[in-house]
Amino acid sequence: MISFFKKKNDSIKKFLRVDMHSHLLEGLDDGVKSHEEAVQLIKNFHSLGYVKVITTPHIMSDYYRNEPEQILSKAAELNSLLKEQLIPIVLEAAAEYYLDENLASKVTEQKKLLTFGTNYLLFETNFFSEPYILKEFIFNAITQGYKPVLAHPERYQYMTMGKAEELRDRGVLLQLNIPSLVGYYGKPIEKMAVSLIEAGWVDLLGSDCHNMLQCKAVESAFQNKNFKKALDLPLLNNSL
Ligand SMILES: [Fe+2]
Repeated sequence: MISFFKKKNDSIKKFLRVDMHSHLLEGLDDGVKSHEEAVQLIKNFHSLGYVKVITTPHIMSDYYRNEPEQILSKAAELNSLLKEQLIPIVLEAAAEYYLDENLASKVTEQKKLLTFGTNYLLFETNFFSEPYILKEFIFNAITQGYKPVLAHPERYQYMTMGKAEELRDRGVLLQLNIPSLVGYYGKPIEKMAVSLIEAGWVDLLGSDCHNMLQCKAVESAFQNKNFKKALDLPLLNNSL
């Protein structure tokens, strides 16, 4: 009997029901160009078994100065379209914050930030070198009650397994991009992604979907052995 329940539980765990990183709100960033395109991508998520999509437009002081109100109102527009077309998926919105002085001061000044789940704060950094404000930002964000989630750690040139471990020790959760597992961003990034999975240091999986090409990379990753290994980790996705 015990083995029956264990088996049932294992099979339930092996589905990804919630995506928490994508760019599906038109006009806000480098993601979809129209609500119609977003609807197509969301239909694709639904066909893959997802029941909820938390979309996360970029917020970056130089390029994408999106305010929470703009993001939420675009998400409401898209939600109306999904309802009209009877697409049974829950759409929520948060943001992917680029770590810069602007974000750091929003945290210390306790300005409203868009989070998902129980105060998870998705952030990214520049791709080349570790930001000098990274550790201070993490400390301040946690002190303010946020749970910082680093988007796609495998994609940063400065990332090493040692740094990833240190970030986790400081309380940062790590979100891997599913397309990384099928070489979408190149071999070194795929290797880093696999190392993070093998170390058990992946807390969340995200599509980071901006367009159909990336959605198709997610779809092909569903057959990938390392993706299946990642599903054995205690991921937070389905709790969102
Ligand atoms: Fe992203």
